[in-house]
Amino acid sequence: MNQPLYLTESDADETIAMALGSQGWIVIDEFLSQSLVQQLREESRETFAQGQFHVAGLGHGNDRVIDTQIRNDRVKWLDVETATSAQSAYLARLEALRLNLNRSLQLGLFELECMLAVYPAGSFYKRHRDQFRGIGLRTVSVITYLNADWEPGNGGELRLYHQPGDDTQFQDIAPLGGRLVCFLSEEFEHEVLTAKRERLSLTGWFKQRP
Ligand code: OGA
Ligand code: MN
Repeated sequence: MNQPLYLTESDADETIAMALGSQGWIVIDEFLSQSLVQQLREESRETFAQGQFHVAGLGHGNDRVIDTQIRNDRVKWLDVETATSAQSAYLARLEALRLNLNRSLQLGLFELECMLAVYPAGSFYKRHRDQFRGIGLRTVSVITYLNADWEPGNGGELRLYHQPGDDTQFQDIAPLGGRLVCFLSEEFEHEVLTAKRERLSLTGWFKQRP
């Protein structure tokens, strides 16, 4: 959070790569322009109102289960084929980031999976890891927030724990519009604290080959 505002895109990508290579996580403000954030937010709220989101699950494929005691956000996967122009602009920005991360860190990231997420007021996602060690496909978690005028009392912070199993050391990151958070998916346990108002984000994972 100590980076200068208005980084150029390649400066931002370089900053992200260096931080992932050292501390393993980073927050970049103003990653997206406010006009793109606004467009993404409005489209997201519209498709949410149309009932196009589903209750988020845990796990994958046949192991997928719904447990609203653990998470109760609603999600909608992005699909390149049907993406809006704002979503395509976002995916293009992340594609540039992916290529830069591969160049700087030789991570061999080959694909992005990405979803819109809505946390209705009262929603949360308990402490978890996005990828378990040793079976890693999801390598870098990439989250961009879409919220206007988020206030400290609104809750909904991403709590990023510094050490597995230790709940005393963490960073709380408010879901401010245009803010990007990246972290190594296997390393960092995290949770979403209860949001007191609707909270919108784009959540994705750069994946390695199986
Ligand atoms: C997730 C997640 C964090 C956030 O979807 O796996 O941890 O801040 N999201 O939205
Ligand atoms: Mn997560």
